[in-house]
Amino acid sequence: MTRTARITASGAYLPDRVMTNADLECLVDTSDEWITARTGIRERRIAAPEEAASTLGVEAARRMLEAADVDPLEIDLVIAGTCSPDGMFPAVATRIQEAIGAERASSFDVNAACASYLTGLSIGSQYIATGAANRVVVVGTEAITRLLDWSDRNTCVLFGDGAGASLLEPAAPEEHGAIGPFVMRSDGARADVVYAGGPAAPRGPLEQEAHIVMNGRALFRAAVEEMRQSCRAALAASGLTVEDVDLFVPHQANLRIMTAVADSLGLPRDRMMVTIDRYGNTSSATIPIALAEAEAEGRLHAGDRVLLSTIGAGLTWGATVLEWSSPCCGATHDVREAELVPAR
Ligand code: ACO
Repeated sequence: MTRTARITASGAYLPDRVMTNADLECLVDTSDEWITARTGIRERRIAAPEEAASTLGVEAARRMLEAADVDPLEIDLVIAGTCSPDGMFPAVATRIQEAIGAERASSFDVNAACASYLTGLSIGSQYIATGAANRVVVVGTEAITRLLDWSDRNTCVLFGDGAGASLLEPAAPEEHGAIGPFVMRSDGARADVVYAGGPAAPRGPLEQEAHIVMNGRALFRAAVEEMRQSCRAALAASGLTVEDVDLFVPHQANLRIMTAVADSLGLPRDRMMVTIDRYGNTSSATIPIALAEAEAEGRLHAGDRVLLSTIGAGLTWGATVLEWSSPCCGATHDVREAELVPAR
């Protein structure tokens, strides 16, 4: 019988600098009222000039490891989900591997845009399931505001920087845990809906203008439909129904998208994790940050069923159901403290 993976620790890191909707009113023709009503976002975090996807990911991974009390030398693999890497190479994951002292681990990045963390989680889970690894660190980390055109009100109000990390270990048959199955999909024909650096080949990445360009209405419709369908498929593949879901952790792209998906599934809104009001869309970091916060807030208990749902540029999307098992939440206390840091 194959092994299954479970998440045994979580951590998150948000940069100190807060950018409010009022700050954005000084940059573009927008208003706090419009942004709050149309997106649910009130503020977001912006990485400091000396920070990058790798350093944010390092902080999240360190907090997770402190909570887990795991020797970094016991880590077999580091996966970083990111679409705003420090550079073309080395991989962000390799920088994280070195910084956390995971000297025995291999490492690589996954880029499925905002779906990168869930894609990384699916890969890491399979390393555990096959016995190829016993401890896998999966990080979702983004300095995605570096890809924004700060004069484009359609996009610059939506995004924020941050990182979250999860530790995967094997689940013994008698223990709570187990992730999956995963339902992961993509459709490159819809590349023009949201992209950074040009929607089509053959432009080389270094020649590309890297600002995010988005058709908001088309993306809104696609997100609601694909998230709804993949959530249903993941629940069916797990032999579960919506009634079995204790917490819904969707990608935080727009509060209206999230509530539309929850409503269409018949999930009560109080079972949905919301961080977008404080952090905006942190791309592949939204789900691991939300998991870390949910644990810190005592919203997750051993045995709880958690539905994860994502969508990203590509388009890429997917969902999975996991049984919560993580016994500790110390890593996320710093997240809560970070919220108290006076902005700017
Ligand atoms: N402030 C004020 N007005 C604005 C702003 C702004 N920041 N942005 C757009 N508007 C205006 C538009 O110009 C338009 O004006 P018009 O009627 O005079 O033409 C009006 O508001 C309505 O624009 P819509 O695009 O129809 O607004 P909508 O209600 O669709 O909201 C939004 C726009 C928030 C972008 C929404 O479509 C959305 O969230 N889409 C999905 C975005 C998303 O998922 N992004 C993540 C990208 S990557 C990923 O995570 C998958």
